[in-house]
Amino acid sequence: MGVAVLGLGNVGSEVVRILQEHSEDLEARVGAPLELRGVAVRRPGKDRGIPEELQTTDADSLVARDDVDIVVEVIGGMDLPRKLILSALNSGKSVVTANKALLAEHTGELAEAAELHRVDLYFEAAVAGAIPVIRPLTQSLAGDRVNKVAGIVNGTTNFILSAMDETGADYAETLAEAGRLGYAEADPTADVEGYDAAAKAAILASIAFHTRVTAGDVYREGISNITAADLTSARALDCTIKLLSICERIPTPDGKERISARVYPALVPLSHPLASVNGAFNAVVVEGENAGRLMFYGQGAGGAPTASAVMGDLVMAARNKVHGGRGPRESKYAKLKIAPIGDI
Ligand code: HSE
Repeated sequence: MGVAVLGLGNVGSEVVRILQEHSEDLEARVGAPLELRGVAVRRPGKDRGIPEELQTTDADSLVARDDVDIVVEVIGGMDLPRKLILSALNSGKSVVTANKALLAEHTGELAEAAELHRVDLYFEAAVAGAIPVIRPLTQSLAGDRVNKVAGIVNGTTNFILSAMDETGADYAETLAEAGRLGYAEADPTADVEGYDAAAKAAILASIAFHTRVTAGDVYREGISNITAADLTSARALDCTIKLLSICERIPTPDGKERISARVYPALVPLSHPLASVNGAFNAVVVEGENAGRLMFYGQGAGGAPTASAVMGDLVMAARNKVHGGRGPRESKYAKLKIAPIGDI
């Protein structure tokens, strides 16, 4: 199985490391060796953990190679990865991606290309890093009716809110500390203003409710206006503040239903399991009509945890290529209306 990795940042480097360190185990699990054909990088270099001959700046040619069966996209961004993923799918290659922003806009187009060419499109790593949440929703719970998915899906903001709660420090000071510790990006806007969480909410709502929700459909508020005093007031109410992503079915009086997808800082009672999710951790609570309440908890960000999810998808895609079969199909999706925030 020929594998191309697009991007050699935190996640890409860990994917390459795992491929190299665990090649024998992976071969046994897949039934064929997973062979790294190349890694698309912006700047090739000697000190990048892989031979220079495997590094290329020509991602298009790497994706087009006949000996590449599966493409792993961990570049991030929108236009370039979209073009590369479509080109891979359209030439019969399965794709594994961690790109939540892209999926939150273009899942329909990408899933249709995968369906047309009968290949896999997997994206466990796009939501909540190492935590299995996509596969439980698309496979384990495929026979249930999921009514609600809610949780903490952004590690940076959870780190900031937990630290503010613990130390009493203000927002700006804590954001700077998150940057120093490598949690917050140089431009933290996507995290602190809730765009990252909204993209993840759109993906979760789409797969949980077998419909199509884009990031723009998600009501969004970030945490940049939260003050130390807000957290003190929350404590006085036996609560803490968490940036929650909430996706749920809302029955309407005419017997139909709408979808509500929203991201905002919320008061969470200290007795609720989400209140004790601290630091850069994520947690997702799923409510199934028959399954009842399930909770998924763990590391939602970081190179190795996110690479773990990518590798799981890669093994699944490779097994399907070797033994036949494909992963979950796109549901014949229902066109559910999005509830405006005022309706809730
Ligand atoms: N910036 C994201 C977070 C990374 O803080 O959760 C993982 O998607």
